Amino acid sequence: MKRVIVDATNPSSDDLMPVADALRDGQVVAFPTETVYGLGANAMDAAAVARIFEAKGRPPTNPLIVHVASIDDVMSVVREWPESAQRLAERFWPGPLTLVLRKNPLIPGIVTADLDTVGVRVPRHPVARRLIELAGVPLAAPSANRYMGVSPTTAEHVVKGLNNEIKWVVDSGPAEVGLESTVLSLVGRPRVLRLGMISLESIQEVLPELEPYYDEVVEGVSASSPGQARRHYAPEAKVIIGDPELRKAFNSPRVGVVSFSRLEGGGLGRVMPRDPEGYARELYDALHMMDEAGCETIIVEPPPTTAKWQAIWDRLRRATESES
Ligand code: TXA
Ligand code: MG
Repeated sequence: MKRVIVDATNPSSDDLMPVADALRDGQVVAFPTETVYGLGANAMDAAAVARIFEAKGRPPTNPLIVHVASIDDVMSVVREWPESAQRLAERFWPGPLTLVLRKNPLIPGIVTADLDTVGVRVPRHPVARRLIELAGVPLAAPSANRYMGVSPTTAEHVVKGLNNEIKWVVDSGPAEVGLESTVLSLVGRPRVLRLGMISLESIQEVLPELEPYYDEVVEGVSASSPGQARRHYAPEAKVIIGDPELRKAFNSPRVGVVSFSRLEGGGLGRVMPRDPEGYARELYDALHMMDEAGCETIIVEPPPTTAKWQAIWDRLRRATESES
């Protein structure tokens, strides 16, 4: 695998050009976004997009998000651009908000799992935007991890998970947000399909008619967002949400603890920031680290339950689901 290190604040076109060439050539490339690392391919090239599904081991029923460099480029991806989309884009783009809209027929069906809709966003990460501009095509990109695993927030996570599957990874250091984008459908009545660090409340400021969030998968109703599997975003280890002191009951060294204060008497622990933004930024790295250390069990101390922690709770719940 070729690892290209690119300065996040000042991406050099010279470094990114071979990667953009690879994308135009139909290859898949892992690249940084502000949320998590993505596994990108030319969204207009069905064969290239098929390689993403292959590399991830992802079922074809799970649609991909298409990334464009600016609002001006969005019409190559969608066929309707409602006034609400314009308002949301002006407020939240570039940034971690994905809008689900009616798809442009030029986008191959494999990108959207043959749905008539497509998820689109303009990422905020300068390297992602530069790469899309240089490639000159929209990039279909899921998170750059094996299906069902924890999303990568560093290039090391990508290498660990997909080393044998891909040729290129662009490394710009740790992701700034750390959780995947908020997914908002504007087809029919507006509703959030996946929680993210752009909160429901902040979307409601622009879109007062937003429906309350309803977790369809967990509630057992058929999923309108097929990627929202019950178990998802889960490490290899079994995750338990509970008191860090529970570790003593295991009588095993292969227990890791994600908590807010240092463990007394040692043990594998990760002390997390107390603010939701800092916590979100580090959560996946903590889970990756404990898998790497060979933990069988990870105990996560429950974070606060206020609105700002809602997306974090969503991911923690999914990580605790057992495989079914
Ligand atoms: O932050 C992110 O969104 C990252 C970075 C790389 O942009 N990408 C990401 O992609 O998390 P992925 O494929 O891991 O998750 C995409 C989510 C899934 O839950 C999928 O079901 C939903 O978006 N989605 C995509 N297109 C959709 C559509 N047309 N209708 C409903 N849900 C859609
Ligand atoms: Mg994913």
